[in-house]
This record gives sequence, C-alpha cells and structure tokens, in this order.
Amino acid sequence: MLKAALFLDRDGTLIEDVGYLSDIEDIHYIPGIFDILRQLQKSYTLFVVSNQVGIARGFLSHIQVDEVNRHIDSVFHQQGIHIQQWFVCPHDREAECSCMKPAPGFLLRAADEHKLDLSRSFVIGDHPHDPATAEATGAFGLYVLSGHGMKHLEELPQEQLVFHDLPAAGEWILEHPNPKTDLETEVSRGAAALQAGRLTVFPTETVYGLGANALNPDAVAMIFEAKQRPLHDPLIVHVASIQQVTTLVEHIPQKAVHLMETFWPGPLTLVLPKSSRVPDIITGGNQTVAIRMPANPLALQLISTAGVPVAAPSANLFGRTSPTTAQHVKNQLSGSYAALIDGGTCRVGVESTVLSLTGETPVILREGGLAREDIEEAIGTVKSRGEDGEAKYDGPGMLPDHYAPTTPLRLVNDIEQYMSSPRVGKLCFQSRPKKECFPQAADRDKTTRILSPRGDVREAAINLYHRMQELDAMGLDLIVAEFAPDHGLGRAVNDRLKKASQKT
Ligand code: TXA
Ligand code: MG
Repeated sequence: MLKAALFLDRDGTLIEDVGYLSDIEDIHYIPGIFDILRQLQKSYTLFVVSNQVGIARGFLSHIQVDEVNRHIDSVFHQQGIHIQQWFVCPHDREAECSCMKPAPGFLLRAADEHKLDLSRSFVIGDHPHDPATAEATGAFGLYVLSGHGMKHLEELPQEQLVFHDLPAAGEWILEHPNPKTDLETEVSRGAAALQAGRLTVFPTETVYGLGANALNPDAVAMIFEAKQRPLHDPLIVHVASIQQVTTLVEHIPQKAVHLMETFWPGPLTLVLPKSSRVPDIITGGNQTVAIRMPANPLALQLISTAGVPVAAPSANLFGRTSPTTAQHVKNQLSGSYAALIDGGTCRVGVESTVLSLTGETPVILREGGLAREDIEEAIGTVKSRGEDGEAKYDGPGMLPDHYAPTTPLRLVNDIEQYMSSPRVGKLCFQSRPKKECFPQAADRDKTTRILSPRGDVREAAINLYHRMQELDAMGLDLIVAEFAPDHGLGRAVNDRLKKASQKT
C-alpha cells in the first residue's frame, strides 16, 4: 500500500515565525510538537515544505537556510523524529515557479519519489497557501493559528478547519485518518442522535454547543441535566434556514429581516416573540425565543441533516468556561452526550451577541462575537441591557459568576507585578517590549498566556477561553488578568473576564 505523508510548514508551524531566520539562536520550537510528531510518524512519512522568499530578496543565503534546517533536523533526530526530506522554495512571488506554495510542485515530487498516497496525506501550515497546496493535490489541509495564522484567518473559507497549533492538529489527524468521510460520519451520527432524542456536541464559529432537538422537550431536558443548568435559564435555538425561523416565531420584524440578511449565518442571536411550537423548557417560560444561524458549515450540515431546529447552550458545565475545542468539551462533559463532531478550534471564540428585538429599541442582552459597532451600522442605535431600565431580564449567561475557571481569577491593572510569582497565572492582553516589562521573556514563561501578541481584540477573543483553560489546568493559586481595549470584540472579552472574576 502507498504511504501517507504529512507536509509540515516550518515557520509558524514547527517553529515560531521570526521573519527571515538566519541564526540558530532564533529557533524557538512550538510547544508540544516533539511528542505529537513522534506519534504521527508511526503512520505518516514526514516532510517539511517551506517558502523562503528571503533568499530571492537577498535577506538570506541558501547556506544560512540550509544551516538552520540542518540544525532543526538534528534536534528532531535527538528527539527521535525523522524528517524524510526538506523542501525549500527560494523564489520570489514574481518567479511563478512550480515549488512556491500554493503551487504543489514539492508535494507531487515527494509523492512520486516516495510512493505516497496524497489522498490520505495532510498539509499543515499557518498561511492560507498551506491548505491551498493540499487542495491542489487531493491532500487534506489543516490550518494552525500559531505563527501568522491569526493574521490571515479571515481570508480562509468557512469550511477550512483551524487549530490552535500543530499538536492540536496532530491529535485531530490521529482520530480522523480519512478526514472527509470521518467528518461525514460524525455529522450523520450526530444528526441521528438528535432525531433519536439524544444529545450531540457540535462546533459553531463561536463555541462548541451541546445540542438537542428543540421540538422535543424530553431531549431538551437532558441538556439541563448534563450541564447542571437551572431550568429558568433559556436556550438558543439554532437553525439552518430562514424557513425554520418562521416556524419558531410569531412574525419576523423588518429589523430582524435586515439583520439576518446582513449577519447570518454568524455570531448574532436574535430574541423574538415565540410561536406556540416552541416548548416552554427552551424559553424558561418566557414568551420570547432566542434564535441564531451558526456560520460553521458542520453545524449547518448537522441541523439540515437532522431536519429539526437545534437547541444548544455552550457545551460546558453551568457557570464554567466555554469550550472552543472538542478537547475542552471532553474535559467537562465526557459521557453525557451521544455524539460529538470535532471541527477543530472555534474561529470566533466567544459566544454570540444576543440582541432582543421585542421592544421599541433593540437591546444587547449579551456582548459577543458580533461587535456592537457592526450592529449599529446596520440598524442604528441599540441599547445595552439595563439602560433606561430596559430589559431587566437576567438570563444565565448574564449572571455575574459565569464563564469561570476553577482557579480564582482576579482582574488587575498591574499585571507585570505578578511576573515573578510562579503560583500565579498571568493572562495578558498583549505582548510588551520585553526588556521594560517582562525581563524574563514572559512570552515563553510557563504561567503566562498572551491573548493577542499583536494587540488585536478579535485574536484575543479567539484565544480567551483556550488560554484560560490552559492556566486553569495548571492547578495554580490564582489567575490574574488584564482588560482588553473596550471596543469591538474587546467588549465581549472584558464582559467574560468580569464575570469569570466574580465567582465566589
Ligand atoms: O454562541 C453562542 O451563542 C453559543 C453557541 C453554542 O451557539 N451558545 C450559547 O448558549 O452561548 P448559552 O445557553 O450558553 O447562552 C444563551 C444566552 C443566555 O445568556 C440566555 O440568557 C440568552 O442566551 N437567552 C436565551 N433565550 C433567551 C430569551 N428568550 N430571552 C432572553 N435571553 C435569552
Ligand atoms: Mg508558516
């Protein structure tokens, strides 16, 4: 049988991307790669494929690149990892060579020389041209958010699976050796479970959801049981079509039509007057129902295959940190669902924005994955919950002690003060000029996590729960966190941090 292979990008995937890398002193391995590569090489031949335009542009010589690669290769060797071949494209974009990603030249050459089955092979990298290379050859592309991954995230098609880093992508490969059919199987099992009145965990662009057939009260009751969630806490109903919405509400107001057209599928939940078809257990007895159409294609496939609207809260225990990877869900809810669809890391990372359209003026009940600024641009001024005594409704996600890690979390203004406290986790918004604030290279300090090295609120949202859970798993005495700037998704990040810090 032909062998399967992994084509690994170098900068940003195996090692941190520091620009034109010429000095072996500047090699920093992405944490966890050695373990996962040792496992993966049992089933896959490993190749490194990297574009080094620095050579064509005169910033690097062939010799320097070769020296760096040899050095990494020797470190891998000491770690028991064998790279079959190193491929380096030295050209500039204008050269239009057949070896610069996304051109698949190297993959085709490797397949030919090493008798590879590309249809069972994977390409992993932190630039959209990495999965594009896969696409061109029938291999499966996985995108990582390390390196420059965050920067180009928006350029990717929705179907593209993304992972925090190579270790996470590698774990997924081990469980999905036939990625396309494995995913189809997960979706059809998930849909069958929903139809049978059981629970299915599925990825959305915001966080993972714990889903049940919204029209089956007994199935919905199982969600409350699994999460240990109080029954007065209403659920969001997920739909795959506008037609499904019409069965759940009395009527769709004009503003809602406009918002759906503008932002769906996407991280916006609309609260509307409910129809009699919606069971009371969904709405906590309220006469309104919260509805959204998620953007994740696996979620949409699940809902349309099941053929029913799907009630789903975030797939975590009540009050705890929301899951943005399948692993987070397994850590908290293992055993309490019938099926799980593993679609990698959630691209938005915080829950949807909940907007009530039941009164005169729309009211934001929960800040979330769609920025308030975007909503106001579409429909004009909106209010916040509590303004002018509007919308006193207190839903669960609105309780103060939500989204909390098990380690106490405190918001501070002087996070640098804690840098030398090894028993305190530091959740920083962005990187600092190292010498000033982080004398001991905090970027690589074990108990420090940076939400967005480049200070971007969207990136901070994607990382928030993941980094929180990493620190929580260390069994520290305390986690200190600092606020993000209060605009765009920064509002949602700050909202979650405040709530997490109020756990008693
Ligand atoms: O992004 C999300 O919204 C995720 C994914 C899975 O779609 N779901 C989620 O669900 O965060 P959950 O249950 O964790 O939060 C639902 C929020 C709660 O704050 C709840 O109070 C509010 O939506 N909500 C639900 N129904 C409502 C209603 N009828 N009126 C007002 N608020 C409602
Ligand atoms: Mg890269």
